[in-house]
Amino acid sequence: MATNPSTSRGTWNTKLGFILAAAGSAVGLGNIWRFPTETASNGGAAFLIVYLVCVLLIGLPVMIAELSIGRSSKKNPVGAFRALSNNKFFPLVGVWGVLCGVMILSFYTIIAGWTFSHVFVEIFTFAGMDGAASILADFGNGYVNAIFALLFMALTIGIIRGGVSDGIEKATKLMMPLLILILVVMTLFVVFQPGAAEGLRVYLMPDFSMVTPNLVLAALGQAFFSLSLGMGALITYGSYLSKKENIVEAAGYVTLADVGIAFLAGLLIMPTIFLAQAQGVEIYDADGSFLAGPALIFQILPELFAQIGGVLGLIVGVSFFFLLSLAALTSTISLLEVPTAYVIDEHGVKRKKAALYVGLFVLTLSMIISFNTALIDTIDFIFSVIGLPLGGLLICIFIGYFWKTQSAVEEMKNGFKDIKNSRLISLWSIFIKYICPIIIAIILIRTIFS
Ligand code: PFF
Repeated sequence: MATNPSTSRGTWNTKLGFILAAAGSAVGLGNIWRFPTETASNGGAAFLIVYLVCVLLIGLPVMIAELSIGRSSKKNPVGAFRALSNNKFFPLVGVWGVLCGVMILSFYTIIAGWTFSHVFVEIFTFAGMDGAASILADFGNGYVNAIFALLFMALTIGIIRGGVSDGIEKATKLMMPLLILILVVMTLFVVFQPGAAEGLRVYLMPDFSMVTPNLVLAALGQAFFSLSLGMGALITYGSYLSKKENIVEAAGYVTLADVGIAFLAGLLIMPTIFLAQAQGVEIYDADGSFLAGPALIFQILPELFAQIGGVLGLIVGVSFFFLLSLAALTSTISLLEVPTAYVIDEHGVKRKKAALYVGLFVLTLSMIISFNTALIDTIDFIFSVIGLPLGGLLICIFIGYFWKTQSAVEEMKNGFKDIKNSRLISLWSIFIKYICPIIIAIILIRTIFS
């Protein structure tokens, strides 16, 4: 593992390795499942446009902020706030981030497990083993949930134990190109199917009458979740980044990869929904709204794969769920790395032990949730819908009024030669100090009181 001699922490081997790892954290179930279903339920292109505005105006500035805090302090989120200011409150923001990581991971592994179990559901269905397929497809079966969550967590722990460059970087360097390849091939296959045009129309032609405060709220929440912001994942990944690299440029690439893949996933899923409808699959609820969430991915799509039939149906089905599993794994890695880095830095535990202990702790929570899946919505609401934007708001306040934007700009100068001539940087400072916190605060207050 590459180590930084001054702190003996791990470091990324290459710039591309870092970008793929950070993009791997960002690209996950949020892109391939949550983004297309949010888009489908919120008026298609209108949601897409508001989402892009949120990413650009809020997501990107906060990502640059997190990376600057991480690289400057070379610490986990708790240690980072402590290192950069004497204020006693902000380390608690780091603790909140670590807690959000633990709680999001506790349910994310279960959904990730569903995506992986569906690889086998597709295979068993093809082989005519309908009994086995329906056992695996039953989300109410706590034992199946628990077994697949355990499998997913074991893989994640194994990768984190390998360290920053030999574990996370190697694994994501392998998985991300594979993920992009499967996504592009599947999207090309779907968009050229007869009947896909209706889905593309809904996805790409905006209906601005759909833009409501709730839609803006959903878009901002989606931006934080999808870009992995607000809980210190990018503080942690930034802490392994060399001073040679340009943070602003790297954040740009990661954001572009995340948005690009979400957009592609929309091109895959939206037409697929309408293809399924053309084949007679029900895509609306009793109340006329889209069958979003688990129903969309785990009911509608498999029905379509079954209609395609034969070996082609099997290949499409298996590829799709394998794609989702890969995307989920590159994200669970970063979710586990945040609390693991905290335990390593703050409690002096060795990486291999820390990853195992933290992983087992989260797994215990996942076991409880496996048998009580109704908890997922509540945990998601507290720790991602509210938790991540709240973390983002406090990060903006920290940089704007405690650590100061000038200190962050000093950090950005490393690896960014033309920074003096960059208008973007003064714009960034204004955004972090005023615009981002005000918008996030308004939206958060609205969410809490509605
Ligand atoms: N960005 C991931 C996704 O879109 O699925 C989820 C996530 C990963 C959120 C890591 C937060 C995080 F720190």
